[in-house]
Amino acid sequence: MEKVRIGLIGLGFMGSTHFGIHKANPDAVITALADVDEKKRRGDISSVAGNIGNADNSKPLDLTGIKVYESGFDLINDPNVDMVDICVPTPYHADLVKAAIAAKKYVFSEKPLCRNLEEASELAKAVKSAEKYVNFGLCVRAWPEYDYLKTEYKKGSFGKVLSATFRRLSPSIAGKHWEDWFMDGKRSGGALLDMHTHDTDFIVYMLGRPNAVTSIGRSIVSRENGIDHVITFYHYDDGTVVEAEGCWGAPSTTPFEMTFQVICEKATIRLMAEGFKIYWNDGRIESPSVEATTGWHVELKYFVDCIKNNTVPDRFQTFDSILDAFKVTAAEQTAVEKGKRVEIAY
Ligand SMILES: NC(=O)c1ccc[n+]([C@@H]2O[C@H](COP(=O)([O-])OP(=O)(O)OC[C@H]3O[C@@H](n4cnc5c(N)ncnc54)[C@H](O)[C@@H]3O)[C@@H](O)[C@H]2O)c1
Repeated sequence: MEKVRIGLIGLGFMGSTHFGIHKANPDAVITALADVDEKKRRGDISSVAGNIGNADNSKPLDLTGIKVYESGFDLINDPNVDMVDICVPTPYHADLVKAAIAAKKYVFSEKPLCRNLEEASELAKAVKSAEKYVNFGLCVRAWPEYDYLKTEYKKGSFGKVLSATFRRLSPSIAGKHWEDWFMDGKRSGGALLDMHTHDTDFIVYMLGRPNAVTSIGRSIVSRENGIDHVITFYHYDDGTVVEAEGCWGAPSTTPFEMTFQVICEKATIRLMAEGFKIYWNDGRIESPSVEATTGWHVELKYFVDCIKNNTVPDRFQTFDSILDAFKVTAAEQTAVEKGKRVEIAY
């Protein structure tokens, strides 16, 4: 196919980010858009805001040549759509992904996979039956510094991981999104499912399945028991110390932070205030050069390339690896609620 024809569902923070990325991709064309919000259907994204990489949303988007729908399910049946890109709130992911698979479309859906383990199990069946490619927006896997860390680690460059810590601290996003849905723990799953899941997902991607997790957490800004601050220890058989922390409870004026420190046998790799650096045990300090882009750009361009070239999109993910990480995130929620270590059934 000359250009991949994309139907985008949801034009909030993530949808408008995807919109810009696809627009800049010569191999993609946005042919359809769906949103329940009438303003978004006119391209008015002036109310859109997020916690990282905010663009200037004051000007309306140019929707010339784009068929506009209110319902994502109608968009899915548009014959001029090859790839359905789902950027709606988490509780609507599963049904839209399943419908797009049933309509034999390529599917890219934002993370998290879905809201709970029951939905994940339904999705697993649907993804196994899919005729076309399905990827999920676990963008940290494709984020240049994280991708570098994982790739070099798997090559053996750093030796074994001895201890690792990952942090994702966001300003509060209370009141910034459609129906303030992120602050409703029942809908978003709080920072634990929505944001911290990126680090859990990356840990499982890089280090494999932990046996168990111990987590503590609490609500700060959310309703309905959404966990706004979580700290998790991931238990591995070989004693590797792995810990991650996620929080979106601080005032909206605080900066966003995503950082890690990974201590390995031969070197310590840090993405921290000083930048992205490798501190070799022999005293050398290296600043690896990585592409100045985001994981959102990398994952979406890659998925479109795979469709265009008919290549299975398994560079950053397989569904099973995403499902494993989702099960770990679900165990973290249980660990917070029960106040004890939880063994994970895969
Ligand atoms: N990968 C990342 O780094 C990242 C970052 C932020 C959000 N996300 C994920 O992206 C998804 C969307 O988050 P967001 O920040 O864009 O939210 P948002 O509230 O900014 O936007 C949601 C949009 O979906 C529309 N919408 C709501 N229900 C709909 C429906 N049933 N059908 C069609 N449109 C509907 C709303 O009108 C709004 O325009 C969430 O699952 C979130 O977890 C991912």
